[in-house]
Amino acid sequence: MNTDEFNEHLVKLSKASLGNFMDPGEIEWPAEANVAAWHFTPELISIYGTPAWNALDDAARMRLSLFEAVNFFSLNVHGEKFLVSEISRHLYTDEHPELSRYLLHFVEEETKHMMYFSGFCNRYAGKVYRDRTLQLDQGLESGLATFLLFARIYLFEEIVDEYNRIMAADERLEPIVREINRMHHVEESRHLAFGRKHLRFLIERDEDEWDAWTRAQVRQHLNDFLGLTWKQYYNPDVYEDAGLTDAFGTWHSAYDDPSCQKHRTRINRQRLGLLRELELLEDPS
Ligand SMILES: [Fe+2]
Ligand SMILES: [Fe+2]
Repeated sequence: MNTDEFNEHLVKLSKASLGNFMDPGEIEWPAEANVAAWHFTPELISIYGTPAWNALDDAARMRLSLFEAVNFFSLNVHGEKFLVSEISRHLYTDEHPELSRYLLHFVEEETKHMMYFSGFCNRYAGKVYRDRTLQLDQGLESGLATFLLFARIYLFEEIVDEYNRIMAADERLEPIVREINRMHHVEESRHLAFGRKHLRFLIERDEDEWDAWTRAQVRQHLNDFLGLTWKQYYNPDVYEDAGLTDAFGTWHSAYDDPSCQKHRTRINRQRLGLLRELELLEDPS
C-alpha cells in the first residue's frame, strides 16, 4: 500500500468520523445500578468456569457482573488515557498531514469514550479502578517505538471490541451497559479499520530495514504486551467489592485456570490473526 492509497483510507475514515459521531451527553443514566441484574455477559466474567465461579449463586454472580463492568470500563479509561497522550505527541510531527487529520478524530473519540466509561464507574461504584498497566521498558529507537505504539493500541482495541460486540447484543444485560458497549463498538470499528491499514502501511514501508534481531524484539514486545493486557482483566479489587470470600485467592488462581486460559486463547485466535499473519505475534497456545 503506497502513501496515496493509505491517504485515501484516511480521508474516508475522517469523513466517517464527522458523519457518525456519538455524543456521551445523550446517554440517559439510571439513577442507580440494580445489583440484581446482569451488567456483564456471564461467559465473559473473568472467573467464569472456575471453581470460585461455580461456588456462587446467581445473586452473587450478578453482583460480581457489576464490578466486572466497572473493571472493564476502568481498563478502557486507562488505555484511552495513555493512547490520547501518546498519540497527541505524534500529531503534526512529520510530512503526513492526512494522518494527523485523522488522528485528531481518533483522539477526540477516545476522549468522549473516557467520559462515558468513567461516568458509569463513578456513578455506580464511586470510583474508577486504579491503573494496573505496567509500562514495558522499551529502549527502542523512535521509529520502532512508534510502530509498537500503534501495534499495541490495535491489539488492545481488538480484544476490547470482542467484549463490546458480544455485550452490545446480549439481551440479558442492563440497557445502559448494552448502550455503552454499542456506542464503543461503532466508533472502535473505525479505529480498528485504521489500525489494520496503518500497520500494513508501516510494515511495507519499514520492514526492509528490520533485521532478524529487530523482528524478534518486536515479537517479544508484543507477546509481553498481550500478556499484560490480559492480566488487567483479572482484578482482586473486583472480587473484594463483589463480596467474594477469598478475593485474593480467587485472583491468584484465576489467570491460570484452564477455563480462563481457554477463553483468552479463543479471543486471541479470533481477533489477533492480522498480527500473526504479519509475524508479529506467536500462535496462541
Ligand atoms: Fe475507545
Ligand atoms: Fe479506539
